[in-house]
Amino acid sequence: MTRTQSKFNVGGLLLNQPFKIRRLGHFGFNLVNMEEGVRFYTELLGFRISDNNDFSRRAKSPEQIAGLGDPRGYFTRYGTDHHALVLFNKRVREALDTRRRFKPGVTINQITWQVGSLREVGDAIKWFGEKGIQIQRSGRDMPGSNWHTYLYDPDGHTNELYYGIEQIGWNGYSKPKVMYNRSFDEAPKLPQMSEFDEVQQALKDGVNLTSGYRYIDPPPATYDVDGVLLPRPFKIVRLGPVSLFVQDVEAAEAFYRDTLGFVPTEEVSWRGQRCVFLRVNTEHHSLALYPIALREQLGLSADTTCMSLGLQLANYRQLRDAVSFLRKQGIKITDGMPPELYPGIDYAAHIVDPDGHCLQLYYYMEQVGWDGRPRPRELRRVVRNGEWPDTLEPLSDTYHGEPFLGPWG
Ligand SMILES: [Fe+2]
Repeated sequence: MTRTQSKFNVGGLLLNQPFKIRRLGHFGFNLVNMEEGVRFYTELLGFRISDNNDFSRRAKSPEQIAGLGDPRGYFTRYGTDHHALVLFNKRVREALDTRRRFKPGVTINQITWQVGSLREVGDAIKWFGEKGIQIQRSGRDMPGSNWHTYLYDPDGHTNELYYGIEQIGWNGYSKPKVMYNRSFDEAPKLPQMSEFDEVQQALKDGVNLTSGYRYIDPPPATYDVDGVLLPRPFKIVRLGPVSLFVQDVEAAEAFYRDTLGFVPTEEVSWRGQRCVFLRVNTEHHSLALYPIALREQLGLSADTTCMSLGLQLANYRQLRDAVSFLRKQGIKITDGMPPELYPGIDYAAHIVDPDGHCLQLYYYMEQVGWDGRPRPRELRRVVRNGEWPDTLEPLSDTYHGEPFLGPWG
């Protein structure tokens, strides 16, 4: 770790932390209604399973997890990252996992941020150690192959920093299980061999590269989605923002700003409560923090501190189509979420999963440029809940921000 006084040299730039988060990579829920939840996220929303992990192998006897539902953990993706959304069985994990305990109300399994290099992960681990920040664990997990370290925020939400998640390409196969030999359960010594060289080694060892998991989307591809036939009339193209209910907004804000390096974008006072929006890149916010007192006022589930998980769809027309599609499938679109609570996103549809987690479907995220200033409130589009105009006038940053790479299906 190269340090100049209190600054850290991150790729030649002097920063306050020895790493720089670039984006939200993946996110996880611990679910009680496991089977319904997996169906909801895969068949309805279109996340594709890239691998699963059978936790029943950790049970001392079958009785230990009898009646708790599907014991497998699911890794799912919308793009080429091996996983964007992971789903674990909350009750099975609680029955088996004596090492890792979630605070009551924490149903988020992980909030996972991509940093710029493996060295940044290594330097983060050293720095957290020096600062006395409790690290849950570090290493490299399979499936997914990403190098990482895990730490808690003040409310007990697990945050993960990682580099180098496995990419699933055109043939749809995940990495074969026999290649899991390069997993680590401690901070790795740097440098490490590249993934390409790992694959070269596997080829030399005679590994069949198409022996990993390959998912086939169950519903037929009958919708013309901007020229491509897909099983549902929309495509998720981006994950996040993550919105959290917290006990103490100032404490959570300090952690995400000073320890993880988030940049505050804006704050909002709603019914006298201060809500804070922070970013890691050009998006208006990647993370929103709300006082937990708002949870009941908004009519959201008392079982979770997750206020919402954002899922960006490819465009506004797909958002409208998603609303009618989901309604037809019996999913209720919640009209009660005040647009003042999600500045920077104009139109959004909120739905809840079978466990009561709120999901924020949207199509646009305001982009913040070099001067760091969000658009003045009076220049933003006025959005009325439940009204869906046929078309919209573009904004200066319409279709800006991180684009989706590769084909949609
Ligand atoms: Fe992860």
